[in-house]
Amino acid sequence: MNIALVTGASSGFGEAICRRLIAEGYHVIGCARRVEKLSRLQQQLGQNFLPLPLDITQQQQVSKVLDLIPAKFQPIDILINNAGLALGLDPAYQADFNDWQTMVDTNILGLVHLTRLILPTMVARNQGYIINIGSIAGSYAYKGGNVYGASKAFVKQFSLNLRTDLAGKRIRVTNIEPGLCGGTEFSTVRFHGDKVKAASVYDGIDYLTADDIANSISWLLSLPNHVNVNCLEIMPVSQTPAGLHVTKLIE
Ligand SMILES: NC(=O)c1ccc[n+]([C@@H]2O[C@H](COP(=O)([O-])OP(=O)(O)OC[C@H]3O[C@@H](n4cnc5c(N)ncnc54)[C@H](OP(=O)(O)O)[C@@H]3O)[C@@H](O)[C@H]2O)c1
Repeated sequence: MNIALVTGASSGFGEAICRRLIAEGYHVIGCARRVEKLSRLQQQLGQNFLPLPLDITQQQQVSKVLDLIPAKFQPIDILINNAGLALGLDPAYQADFNDWQTMVDTNILGLVHLTRLILPTMVARNQGYIINIGSIAGSYAYKGGNVYGASKAFVKQFSLNLRTDLAGKRIRVTNIEPGLCGGTEFSTVRFHGDKVKAASVYDGIDYLTADDIANSISWLLSLPNHVNVNCLEIMPVSQTPAGLHVTKLIE
């Protein structure tokens, strides 16, 4: 297996994963909307990196663009469904419905559409690995996590159900569920470009880094073919799953 397609390659986890996989000798297709960021990455990573600009919410565009992938980057052995976003942190009764729709379109529909397009070739070759980037938000509730957490719960269950449909085939599926990770654009996107508010999320906290996630993917890919890690939940030591909350009623 040596050809990987990574979504969300223009920033954060996706960019770190592309750098790591290129360093390890893979051919990597990097997808995202921002063309200039992908082009800059190609200048640094060289000819084994193929920038593939696309918006995963635009289904027709995605189908057409995949058809244009040159032979050197086919067939795709590893699909890393990383593109995704959280928008807003308001309670459900105040959240912007457009933000909810964008999260569902990207984190759920974009991911399942791309998977549906690429999976048949993996099945035909009886070889492949799908790594989804979920979140601990898909397992643990937090205030304002409403649709973002629900979209990641979808990714978690979709990953388990994919494994079930692929029983007996040599195709692996893993859902990586990271906790708080800094140094990416995640919170700047969540707070609609407010970098000061985004920085305050990480102030004084020893958070995970994008390289930690890239390292875990490198480890997953190094495992023998008969080993499938279903879920990989990763938190910084500064974060724990505890926190059942009791609040007095406000009359
Ligand atoms: N950072 C964390 O604490 C954390 C924790 C758990 C899980 N995660 C998950 O990890 C993944 C990566 O997060 P990150 O922290 O690396 O965030 P990031 O720096 O904001 O990166 C997100 C990437 O997704 C791409 N993207 C967004 N919408 C897209 C679309 N419609 N079509 C194509 N690409 C799109 C962005 O590229 P363009 O804008 O150029 O399209 C960008 O490359 C996400 O799924 C996120 O939910 C993050």
